Amino acid sequence: MPERNNTPAAMLPKHIAIIMDGNGRWAKQRGQVRMAGHRAGIESVRRVVQRAAEKGIEVLTLFAFGQENWRRPKQEISYLHSLLFSALQRELAKLMENNIRLRFIGDLAALQPKLQQQLQMAVEKTHHNTGMWLVIAFNYSGQWDITEATRKVAVEVQAGHLSAQSITQAHIANQLSTADLPLPDLFIRTSGEYRLSNFLLWQLAYAELYFTPIYWPDFTEADLEKALAAFAQRERRFGAINDIAREAGTLQKEDIIIEAINYLES
Ligand code: FPP
Repeated sequence: MPERNNTPAAMLPKHIAIIMDGNGRWAKQRGQVRMAGHRAGIESVRRVVQRAAEKGIEVLTLFAFGQENWRRPKQEISYLHSLLFSALQRELAKLMENNIRLRFIGDLAALQPKLQQQLQMAVEKTHHNTGMWLVIAFNYSGQWDITEATRKVAVEVQAGHLSAQSITQAHIANQLSTADLPLPDLFIRTSGEYRLSNFLLWQLAYAELYFTPIYWPDFTEADLEKALAAFAQRERRFGAINDIAREAGTLQKEDIIIEAINYLES
């Protein structure tokens, strides 16, 4: 029985976004081909989806295939695509059992028609579920997402529904592929790499970043709990200053201003 951690529900993130990195190195360490690492990675996906849903996480977004991944050997690319196909076939019943809603973000039109149909079918099947959103980023890129959103806003301008001067951040944000979902508040990357790798660039603006050296196939429920506990310890300020905010309860505003002036003049 994996260890349980009692992070209070109010301190849990609403949306966790994960870069599942290190499959290749995991396989190499064992003298196996890279594909074996991806296959083992599916087990971690299963564990993390299950535990996140049990904990009441609202959204879990997994980066399964980036637009830059087309640079990999052809054989590995088709293996990753077929892995998604077969995982969906095998796991759909489990998603239904757990009341999970599935969605894909990314340029799906570039995928094989058979895979596109399969993704569409799985999304429709889970459409009426009401539990956690499982978002799979496939053929996704953050820059692509922002570009597509910008293109949609440009169409609005072209149609005369909006002037260029009145474009706000909200217009762009409302056109992103995750527009109707809460923003990710916890970002996890495994395998000891410290990069965003063109994942949810806009959406991660204020996310707490958590990095672990563990390779993705070794990532367990206990590791997810560790990340959640770390998140609960973080002080989220969103650009404000919590010390001042806290002190404001005991100090008068004027006192704070005087203190600030004294500090600047000292
Ligand atoms: C990064 O490891 C991992 C990927 C590019 C693919 C992740 C895919 C899965 C875990 C399986 C498919 C997922 C779903 C949701 C069905 P890497 O290959 O870059 O590893 P390395 O950095 O050690 O070479």
